[in-house]
Amino acid sequence: MTRTKTASKNGWILGGLALSTRVVLAPMAGYTDLPFRRLVRSFGGVGLAFSEMVNPDSILRGRSRKSAALVATAPDDRPLGWQIYGTHPDLLAEAAQWFEARGAELIDVNMGCPQKKICSRGGGAALMKKPDLAVALARRVVESVKIPVTVKLRLGWDAPDVAVELARGLEGAGAAALTVHGRTRAQRFAGEVDLDGIRQVVEAVRIPVIANGDVFTLAAAREMFRSTGCAAIMIGRHAFSEPWFLRDVERDLVGEPPLPPPTFAERLVMMRRLYADHLALYGERFGVALFRRWIPRFVKGMGAPRPLMIAFLQAATPAEWEAHMGELERWTETVVRA
Ligand SMILES: Cc1cc2nc3c(=O)[nH]c(=O)nc-3n(C[C@H](O)[C@H](O)[C@H](O)COP(=O)(O)O)c2cc1C
Repeated sequence: MTRTKTASKNGWILGGLALSTRVVLAPMAGYTDLPFRRLVRSFGGVGLAFSEMVNPDSILRGRSRKSAALVATAPDDRPLGWQIYGTHPDLLAEAAQWFEARGAELIDVNMGCPQKKICSRGGGAALMKKPDLAVALARRVVESVKIPVTVKLRLGWDAPDVAVELARGLEGAGAAALTVHGRTRAQRFAGEVDLDGIRQVVEAVRIPVIANGDVFTLAAAREMFRSTGCAAIMIGRHAFSEPWFLRDVERDLVGEPPLPPPTFAERLVMMRRLYADHLALYGERFGVALFRRWIPRFVKGMGAPRPLMIAFLQAATPAEWEAHMGELERWTETVVRA
């Protein structure tokens, strides 16, 4: 990844960063940590990924293993945008500088999170209710660093009536790009994504817009590009069940058919790699516990019996984990032979 004004054939430029594809992995708290980003990137096709949202306090004042893990990255985890959230301009600026000093190439400010605990303090999507503060905050972050700053927003608070004006303000504040999740805060994840609402933002600004929401199929990805005119699309939840989906979206964009989904043997290798990354980042106890979030997805994805999954979820030590993994491996052998 280089800083340049030209991108490769299928790439695009975001604030001077040349990104090789128009497919972006969403920030997802509790999931898009270094191990998962690495897994998704291992298939290819990822033009840009975002971190989980980071509370500036946790990195500037926190010293826990958890906060260290939150900001962990690696050479194969590029390009990466660090997402920060909050309402205090100085604190956000300080956090942006903290990341920049550690080699970050992009900062993203969260103005779309619908969670009560974030919004009740004025952060996330609640910033859409105070567009002046939102713009001032973005400007302060932009002015505090040399790297590009992007903003992720929704269409509005309880109606899709804020994004266009806010997007213009954010562009004026120096945002290098915007991501728009085509829903309001009130909708959370319900209802249809408003592609027309995203298109209106695309048409209102000159900076690139990344369109987001409910891309679960290649047809939905195509439709997102077609009806919004976006520069890129962001994929979140579908990467949980099919971490190779972003690769297939990119293949589709260049007219290539999707590759066959990974075989059982390949999925077991993926699982082991993801697990090893969990242990390396979080330590044995927490790593084994945290890996539980992935067990149902892998086990169900392979169609393995439910009791096997329930038992696997009880694993509390690496030895127990190995025993259950062995069982899953033996089960896949019986299925493959049958
Ligand atoms: C579990 C989970 C955690 C999320 N955490 C964040 C976050 O930290 N920051 C953010 O901007 N959006 C977050 N989102 C929203 C996603 O980035 C994305 O906007 C949303 O899931 C819609 O995209 P999708 O339909 O492709 O999943 C989260 C979504 C989920 C499901």
